[in-house]
Amino acid sequence: MIDPVGEKIIGGGAWNPPAIGPDGTVYIGFGNMYQPASVALEQPGRRLYTDSTVALDGKTGKLRWYFQAVPNDFHDWDMQLSPIYARAGSRSLIIDAGKMGYVYAMDAATGKLVWKTKVGVHNGHDEDGTLALQHKLKLRFPLTVEPGIVGGVETNMAVADGVVYVPVANLASVWKTRTTGLGSANFGAGTGEMLALDLATGRILWDTKLPQMPDGAATVANDLVFTTTFDGYVIAFKRSNGSIAWKQKLPAFTNAPIAIVGDTLITAASFPGGKGQTTEVIAFRLGAHGSLTPAAGTAPSKGGAMSGASLFTQNCASCHTLAAAHATGTVGPNLDQLKPSKAVVARQVTDGGGGMPAFGGRLSSRQIDAIAAYVASSAGK
Ligand code: HEC
Repeated sequence: MIDPVGEKIIGGGAWNPPAIGPDGTVYIGFGNMYQPASVALEQPGRRLYTDSTVALDGKTGKLRWYFQAVPNDFHDWDMQLSPIYARAGSRSLIIDAGKMGYVYAMDAATGKLVWKTKVGVHNGHDEDGTLALQHKLKLRFPLTVEPGIVGGVETNMAVADGVVYVPVANLASVWKTRTTGLGSANFGAGTGEMLALDLATGRILWDTKLPQMPDGAATVANDLVFTTTFDGYVIAFKRSNGSIAWKQKLPAFTNAPIAIVGDTLITAASFPGGKGQTTEVIAFRLGAHGSLTPAAGTAPSKGGAMSGASLFTQNCASCHTLAAAHATGTVGPNLDQLKPSKAVVARQVTDGGGGMPAFGGRLSSRQIDAIAAYVASSAGK
């Protein structure tokens, strides 16, 4: 990214895998650049190729075309999804979308816009970046913008049989000042929708409202389309009319997508956000008789009685190395080398910080005490 004000500018990255067309063209969606409103208003620029779908020659990497959805973005939107290559009649399309809350169909050969469809709740700020480019934008802070930083089309869409399936999150965010680089949002307050759009025209075929955000992408199998919602449900919609055919509560909140192979569906309870929630990878199969860990919100059996060692394996091993627990994570410091005291572990686990999540509120004080005692006594041994 070119730096318009001598400050460090980050972003403009790709979150998701590219699509590759039949002729080898590589299509990539790119995120935004985190510029605060003050920069976007006073030194606006298109900031190519942020918030764009870009087509590159698969052999040479040369730019074939780009389509920028939001120039001069300062609302932390993105065109972050994997583009989808699809045929509508004789025409080849690239379908892409992002946190700005629009779905776009572009001509796969030229990048020319074929249709665009607004999805989810918008509160009137869609053109802010463009208006700022023209020096025509006046804003008052604090500023509430919807879609917000975790709104719009947050996770990947699916296309099947001439229909685009779009999971949409409705959640506003607030920017306190002109110089705040990142807005804030309360995840628990989000709602959502799953939509079906006609691939050839972008017309909305159905739009099913959801009590929470669908952060689990869209996955099609036979006559159903699946997602997961942040409050921890797997949901199957009928592709014919969007009605909910099946729904199952998971043992934690989740933003995990779904994989389906044959008659087996695999997803995860990925986000332990409440008391007693556990992260698990879960498989469902037609005709299976397994049972789930007690659902989120209900107390796990003998809560807190779990040993410090198993609590460590469940909550800490993915990021830390600790030989006693056969843990080899490298995201956080090596605890065998650090040899922290019990008090240091307890404080860090409770409060988090420096890239580590806080566990206070997710783990009980007894559980934190058990982990701290275990780490202090086993680190370096
Ligand atoms: C998502 C990754 C992640 C998880 C999960 C995680 N940590 Fe950390 N941890 C980190 C990072 C990153 C740091 C470095 C923080 C810093 O530099 O301030 C850290 C730091 C620490 C420290 C050092 C604190 C200090 O003051 O030096 C301790 C002790 C620790 N973690 C223990 C744990 C325990 C126990 C758990 C499980 C309850 C855990 N961590 C879970 C990433 C993680």
